[in-house]
Amino acid sequence: MAKRMAVIASFVAVVFAGSWVLAEVRPANPKKGQALYEQHCARCHGSAGDGLGPDARDLIVPPANFLSLRSRSKADWELMVAISRGVLFSPMHGWADRLSEQDMLDVLGYIRTLAPFNPVT
Ligand code: HEC
Repeated sequence: MAKRMAVIASFVAVVFAGSWVLAEVRPANPKKGQALYEQHCARCHGSAGDGLGPDARDLIVPPANFLSLRSRSKADWELMVAISRGVLFSPMHGWADRLSEQDMLDVLGYIRTLAPFNPVT
């Protein structure tokens, strides 16, 4: 019994440690995000976020235009899933293996300065 309690206690400790690590994530820093965006994303999505980057013309599936209603009406978490896991059957691969969680939040923060969330117009 005591052994089982110890197992449960250590499991709980791991879960708490995990949420502590998450709590370490700072709010998005769009300025850092801009540098990451220019480095990794602009060649497809364009510096303005309009999907017209220099590599876009070579792609069969065009890069998302963040200024479009289709993207602007998506919640942050939906865009975050696309950034971290990628978009199936498209040249948009996931970035989770290249960028930290914080980097991805920063880059999303920058995209939202180019194209603020707008569910209606
Ligand atoms: C090789 C070209 C390419 C690169 C580089 C690229 N993307 Fe994409 N991205 C795409 C394509 C193609 C799509 C899919 C568009 C669609 O679903 O119609 C996409 C989709 C997305 C979406 C989903 C948009 C939506 O409305 O659902 C987000 C968010 C996104 N990209 C962010 C990024 C970020 C951030 C980076 C850089 C870290 C990046 N992309 C780099 C090509 C690229």
